[in-house]
Amino acid sequence: MSDSIGLVILAAGKGTRMKIDTPKALAKTAGRSLLDYVVDATIKFASASSLRAEIGLVVGHKKELIEEWLSMHPAKNMLKTAWQREQNGTADALKSCFNDLPHFWNFDYTLVACADTPMIQASEFEALFLTLKSNPELVGVAATFDAHDPKGYGRIVHSEKGFHIVEEKDASEKERLITEVNSGFYILKTKHVKDVLGLIGNNNKSGEFYLTDLFQDKYQVKAVKFRSEIPFLGINTMEQLAEVTTLLRKRKLRQLMIDGVEFLNPDSVHIDDEVKIGVGSVVYPNVTLLGKTVIGEKVVIESGAFIKNSNIRNGSEILAHSYLEEAVVHEDVTIGPMARLRPGADIGAESKIGNFVEVKKSKLAQGVKVSHLSYVGDAEIGENTNIGCGFITCNYDGVNKHKTKIGSNTFIGSDCQMVAPIEIGNDAFVAAGSTITKNVPDGAFGIARGQQVTKEGAAKKFLKRKKT
Ligand code: UD1
Ligand code: CA
Repeated sequence: MSDSIGLVILAAGKGTRMKIDTPKALAKTAGRSLLDYVVDATIKFASASSLRAEIGLVVGHKKELIEEWLSMHPAKNMLKTAWQREQNGTADALKSCFNDLPHFWNFDYTLVACADTPMIQASEFEALFLTLKSNPELVGVAATFDAHDPKGYGRIVHSEKGFHIVEEKDASEKERLITEVNSGFYILKTKHVKDVLGLIGNNNKSGEFYLTDLFQDKYQVKAVKFRSEIPFLGINTMEQLAEVTTLLRKRKLRQLMIDGVEFLNPDSVHIDDEVKIGVGSVVYPNVTLLGKTVIGEKVVIESGAFIKNSNIRNGSEILAHSYLEEAVVHEDVTIGPMARLRPGADIGAESKIGNFVEVKKSKLAQGVKVSHLSYVGDAEIGENTNIGCGFITCNYDGVNKHKTKIGSNTFIGSDCQMVAPIEIGNDAFVAAGSTITKNVPDGAFGIARGQQVTKEGAAKKFLKRKKT
């Protein structure tokens, strides 16, 4: 039978040093929570290995928020939660895992990961595991690295016999000078955890139970020193969160450029981790792409565009300063400049949404044009229909929203209002300046405007001139 491993992620901490009220594990960087990155790395490690694996998530502070996050996670079946009632330290957190999930004692190995380390990847777990597997005398390995700024980390104190870890608070001045630090990632034989976890006390400056006490000079343990500190950057403050966001942004941009996306000024662009962009697309300076946005191939995104959770298909152009949220833009569409697509905007292929046009919860078929200064809300517009300048769907009566339906190949003149609920048929024509309150059937001409009166020579009565 293949070896088995319990992957324990410690996520019960408050995030005191970040001054936030939500669990630190749910703080976001590049559009995803810290926990998402760590869970991803453990799942990748488990599926690439031949190990039987299960993930135990230790939750505590505001645990219901993490449980809500978990209920939406695609791998939720692989993830079990354990509850650490009081945050008494990392050793106490691991104990809570074995209390609530006692079958974790049966796994051959136990991997411990901190939830506040989003740059971690499966390759670090693989290297760590390889060391443990290939040295059968070892009972545990800890990932360490030389920190550029060791402040806040536990220091690795080597001795002739082995090593142990001293937390910063408990370290002597001399120990604080040590730059090799504890990453908070360990793999242990579960038997060693069983033998010594219960022996760990809290006789230290914080009065907490330190998991680092699993590593003592007297145990057969090894510090595996990694060359780069980047995978292990732990987030304890807002400043560290911003630093990691910058690194994730750069990693994302690098990958997109390898995949054939062109950036006119990559330093000025923010792209969240999960965003996808197809080959041959061009991104201008100062563009923000967030959430689960998917951009197709050969799409052009001009400066100032802000696009969140939207889907832009091949060949479309998002012109400068357009704002899109939860919108779908089909093939070869032009949006903007300065257009706003709100949730539920679905713009058909080869359509055009021009400047100062707002579209909300509306489905536009192929080849629709709304070129200037309009509000389209709760509407359905058929193929090749042209909407003139200054069009408004009057969709709200103060209490309820109502629908506007306009057919195919219809022409709506400029400055028209549709008082919804209302239907305009196919091949219809609505004259400019109309406030439409009654349906206009297929092929009909609708006009609703005040009559013009022209009085010859009467202008002088109205013209006010300065006396000379
Ligand atoms: C810990 C290590 C330190 C290491 C550093 C790496 C200990 C005692 N110290 O310190 O040696 O250099 O990580 O980043 O382990 N947590 C719980 N329950 C608790 C306390 C913490 O679940 O009672 C979780 C936190 O949510 C977090 C992780 O454990 O994900 C680490 O806790 P944190 O308080 O950030 O530990 P550090 O002080 O950074
Ligand atoms: Ca930490």
